[in-house]
Parts: sequence; structure tokens; C-alpha cells
Amino acid sequence: MEVRGQIAEVRTLTFTSAIGPLTSDLSQNLRYIKFMPDGSTAVVRPARMARGLVRIPGDKSISHRYAMLAAIAEGTSRFHNFSEARDCASTLDCVGKLGCVWKREQDKDKDDEGTIEVHGVGPRLNAPAEILDCGNSGSTMRMLSGILAGQPFTSELRGDESLSRRPMARIMTPLSEMGARISSSEGGRPPLRIHGGPLKPIHYRPGVASAQVKSCVLFAGLFAAGETVVEEPMRTRDHGEIALRAFGAEVERTGNASRIVGGQRLRAIEAHVPGDLSSAAFFLCAAALFAGSQITLPGILMNPTRARLLDILVQMGLKISVAHLEEHQGELVGSIEARGAKWRGTVIAGADTAALIDEIPVLAAVAPYTEGGLEVRDAKELRVKESDRIAAVAANLRKMGAEVEERPDGLRIPGGQHLHGAELDSFGDHRIAMAFAVAALRAEGETTIHGADAAGVSYPAFFQELETVAGR
Ligand code: S3P
Repeated sequence: MEVRGQIAEVRTLTFTSAIGPLTSDLSQNLRYIKFMPDGSTAVVRPARMARGLVRIPGDKSISHRYAMLAAIAEGTSRFHNFSEARDCASTLDCVGKLGCVWKREQDKDKDDEGTIEVHGVGPRLNAPAEILDCGNSGSTMRMLSGILAGQPFTSELRGDESLSRRPMARIMTPLSEMGARISSSEGGRPPLRIHGGPLKPIHYRPGVASAQVKSCVLFAGLFAAGETVVEEPMRTRDHGEIALRAFGAEVERTGNASRIVGGQRLRAIEAHVPGDLSSAAFFLCAAALFAGSQITLPGILMNPTRARLLDILVQMGLKISVAHLEEHQGELVGSIEARGAKWRGTVIAGADTAALIDEIPVLAAVAPYTEGGLEVRDAKELRVKESDRIAAVAANLRKMGAEVEERPDGLRIPGGQHLHGAELDSFGDHRIAMAFAVAALRAEGETTIHGADAAGVSYPAFFQELETVAGR
């Protein structure tokens, strides 16, 4: 990856080019993407190019953590470019039910997504009068549980159908060891009932590499008398540690261990949320599909625990340059310019799989178009995401005529394949909906994606933005 001081030419293919303002109605007749009147079925037509500038919304992982920590901080926090994802709305809704007042100020003239103001309650939240609905958001349920474990009241958390199938034992075990009483439905699935209180510090070694688990335990560590340590099997994203420090807490990191001493008070902050690299991945892959494409993405999160994606894309042949590197509240941010050239295959395994876990669906969806194909290993976590992402990718690729080998913990997708348009399902999973919208741009004929509105879970304006960059 080339890092330089300035992007020589920043193309600004405007958002108004094809469909008018971002909020425009996608049921109108568009060039590449059309939503059916049901509002959830998208039809994607093939393109020959991806070109333009996209302002990627604020990072979802950071937005969740900011909202939760602001709720238990003292004072009023302000977050610019806070994610508009449905998942982050679930977090805001939950902290609201715990007594935290927040408001969104939308400034449509500005480039970013608007500002959230959160009035901190301090370390002791209010007992909720109703069940906390986490919607589709595993991050909300797992990380908020860490804070609720330290509260002197009982709370109940539930989720939608997909979240109700997801494993929660991974947070129940450490929180129970710390002294919280937690019950779940059979097999450690939501809904959860958490009876919190004063906690004991622990030295925890999670069995899975999970940043949600790490953040959950570190947040609980704020309420424990002494030092809590999380020693992860593999390095995962460190937004929890960085956000805790931004709010004034001391968090130490040595090797794969993060430590926090309980009883530290958090102070409100003002922060700009960097653009979400996992959302940027869809546009980077769209650029990779067509030699001659050029996509500019300003203000993107460059945190090294997330940016492995860029190395892999470069290895696969995408030309990437990064400019305007800055730091916002401990998070690295930069502008990306990507140009499509060759598109080669690769193998993703081990620590890379953990680092790319959210981007594997889109990398796999476009893998048949590579020279050499893609092999993904050590990815059994993908089976317990918003959908079983290994099965979902394999099923959709096969419908598009691709050869694909599905394995218990991964996939092997030969390269040099030609896909045709087909009738696909998002499986209610935002990343599957978006991954196949990108793959559809290079297929022969139209692709119909049922449940495409799932994209709103992380990226409500995704289809509008994809329309602006697709071209002939
Ligand atoms: C996230 C961590 C990852 C990722 C998820 C967001 C986070 O999940 O897949 O989209 O914000 O910490 P796991 O912690 O389950 O690996």
C-alpha cells in the first residue's frame, strides 16, 4: 500500500449524478439498481465500471462504543459522523431506556451524517422499565452486558430472530466469573437476564478471538474492584481500549493482553467518527472488479487492527493509495484512492481471517472473478454471524452459476469464472445483501436480491451510493 501526502486527483463524481440527492426514492427507474415496490427486493444490473467519490458513514464498531461509554461518563459528549446504522440506533435506544438522554442533530448541508449529543448519566445508570431490545445487533447485546453486569439492578435484553440464535455463553462465562448473575434461554442464546452488582476482577482468556467479548469484559472491569485482564488468543480490533482511553480511563496493552483497573471515572468527549472501513470494503471490491475503475473514499478508519483488508486487496491487485493521515481521539483516519487493475486470488487464514472477519463475505462474493480464486480458512465464526455466512455465500454463488466448495470453517472458490444474474436471498444479513449487490455488477444479466433492505443494519444509504459509482 502506498501512503503519500496528498491524493493527486480527487474525483468528485457528485452524488447528484444519477439519482439526485441521497435520499432519493430507489423505486424510480435507475440505471443499475432498482428497488421493487415492496421496499425490500433490489434488482441489480451489470455495469462496466465503478467510478466516483463516496463518503462512507461513521464506523459502526466505534459508534456503539462511544454511545455506551458516553452514557456512563460524566458530562455531555458530542459525536460527529455518528453511524446511522440500524444497529447503532439499537444501542442508542437501549442507553435511552437506561436513563441516558441523547439527541441527533442532522445537518443535511454538511458532508457527514450529523451529530449525536449524549448526556452522560455517570457510572450508575437507571433501572430500565422495559426490556432492552437489541434488534439485530450482537455488538449491542454483548458489549452493553458488560456495563449492565456492574449495575445494581436487573435488566433483560432481547434481539430479533437472527440475534436470538447467536451464542452469548462467550460473555455469560466471564461476567458470571466476575460475580454477575446471568440467565439465558437454552444453549446460552438470547434473551438474557442480567442481575448486576459489584464485580470481582478476573484474568480472562477467551476461547474465541472476539473484540465484542474483549470490550464486554473491559467495560465490566470498570465496575470491578482491582485489575481485570483480557488475554486474547489473537489480536482483535482495539476500539474498546482506544475509546476507554479517549474517555479518560487508563487501559494498558502488553502483547495480547489488555488491562483495566476498576473504579475509574469517565469524562465526556467530543469526537469525529471515522468512515467505516468494513462499509468501504464494498466499494473497494467494486473497483477491483473492473480494470480502469477509480474510487475515492475520504476520511476512512485506518486503525491497524482493521486495515489488514487494504494489504490483502493490494496483494490481490487493487492499486490503493492513502493520503491525509490524521488521528482522531486515538483512531487513525485517512483518505483512500483505489484503482482497479488486475484481480488476483489469495488465501485468507489464521490471524488474517480474524482481522478480515466482516469483509470475507464481499471478498468471497467477488472471488470467482479473480485470477486464481480465493481460499478462506479458520473462519468457523462466520457460521454464527447475522446469518451462517459460509452457507449464505456458497448458496448465492451457486445460484449465480459459480463453482464453490463449502467447508466447515471456510470456502474455496476457484477463479476465472463467469457468473450470471440470479434470484438471491440476503438471508436477512446486511453484509450478504451488499456483497452480492457488488458481485451482481459483473454478472451477466440482472440479479434480484430479496431482503436487500437488510443493508440498513449497517449502511442505510448503501444502494444509493452504489448507484452513483456504477457506470458503463
Ligand atoms: C465487532 C467485532 C466482530 C465483528 C462485528 C463487530 C466489534 O465480532 O464481526 O461486526 O465491534 O467489536 P466478534 O467480536 O464476534 O468477532
